[in-house]
Amino acid sequence: MASSSFTLGLLGAGNMASAMVRGWVRADPDMAGRILITDRGSGRAAALAEQYGVRHLEHNAEVASEADLVVLCVKPVDVERVLREVSELITPTKAIASVAAGVPTSTLETILDVDAPVFRFMPNVGVQVGMGTLAYSAGRFIDTAAEQQVLEAFGLLGEVVRLEERAFDAATALSGSGPAFLALIVEAFEDAGIVSGLSYADARALILTTVTGTAGLMREEDMPASALRRMVTSPGGTAAAGLAEMERQGVRGGIIDGVVAAMRRAGELG
Ligand SMILES: NC(=O)c1ccc[n+]([C@@H]2O[C@H](COP(=O)([O-])OP(=O)(O)OC[C@H]3O[C@@H](n4cnc5c(N)ncnc54)[C@H](OP(=O)(O)O)[C@@H]3O)[C@@H](O)[C@H]2O)c1
Repeated sequence: MASSSFTLGLLGAGNMASAMVRGWVRADPDMAGRILITDRGSGRAAALAEQYGVRHLEHNAEVASEADLVVLCVKPVDVERVLREVSELITPTKAIASVAAGVPTSTLETILDVDAPVFRFMPNVGVQVGMGTLAYSAGRFIDTAAEQQVLEAFGLLGEVVRLEERAFDAATALSGSGPAFLALIVEAFEDAGIVSGLSYADARALILTTVTGTAGLMREEDMPASALRRMVTSPGGTAAAGLAEMERQGVRGGIIDGVVAAMRRAGELG
């Protein structure tokens, strides 16, 4: 199969599938014609077909037999049922990529009838704007062509980082749930701006560009966070006063404890 013309079959059309569809079509409008999608009857797959020109099929089996790469986008609790439903249609050359949190590749391989190439991804909602973070890991029966195809598809959605599977719960907490944590922090900055007398619109504009500029600087200059913090923190200055209060309030400890709680939860989901 030509890598530039493979068909993606998405089983599930919820929040993550929608974000990925948007990301794929945004990255390459021709992808729409190569995406097949189902749901459990909510109408979300049909709505995505209407909005983005992807193809909604009624049955998971139709998607699994037509697609070159089957992407499992259902909740972890539904993975086994959905994969069993299509298992006999999976061949050793048809790749499976699962985005389900907490479900290891070994579980997916055990459910399948054949030794197919299985990949596990932990994407985040940044995929919707082509700026996702996607941790991935490969199962036992991987061939180079399948891996290239999968990386080509998911690479359109953002930065793909290969991880040992035992690091997935940590990645789930840090980058999968990360957008929720960062959104909470942005919300707090918006509130702080309003308390300080700014309009909501001004507070939002200031903090959003501050977030992207800070991330851009650390990335482009390869600058550690601690170095950037020191650079902005003049002795006796405003940042020093603000940081001292934030540390007293336990911001750092709260974030560490929150991410560790998310990681533990990820471990319970499989
Ligand atoms: N949301 C995130 O930010 C995020 C981040 C990383 C990973 N994930 C992973 O992504 C997966 C999906 O999460 P989500 O937030 O997108 O969940 P969601 O919004 O609840 O979507 C789940 C989708 O699965 C469909 N589904 C369930 N059973 C099905 C079946 N038998 N056949 C076909 N489709 C079926 C549902 O259909 P209906 O629409 O008909 O109900 C729905 O479209 C999860 O495993 C989660 O761990 C999510």
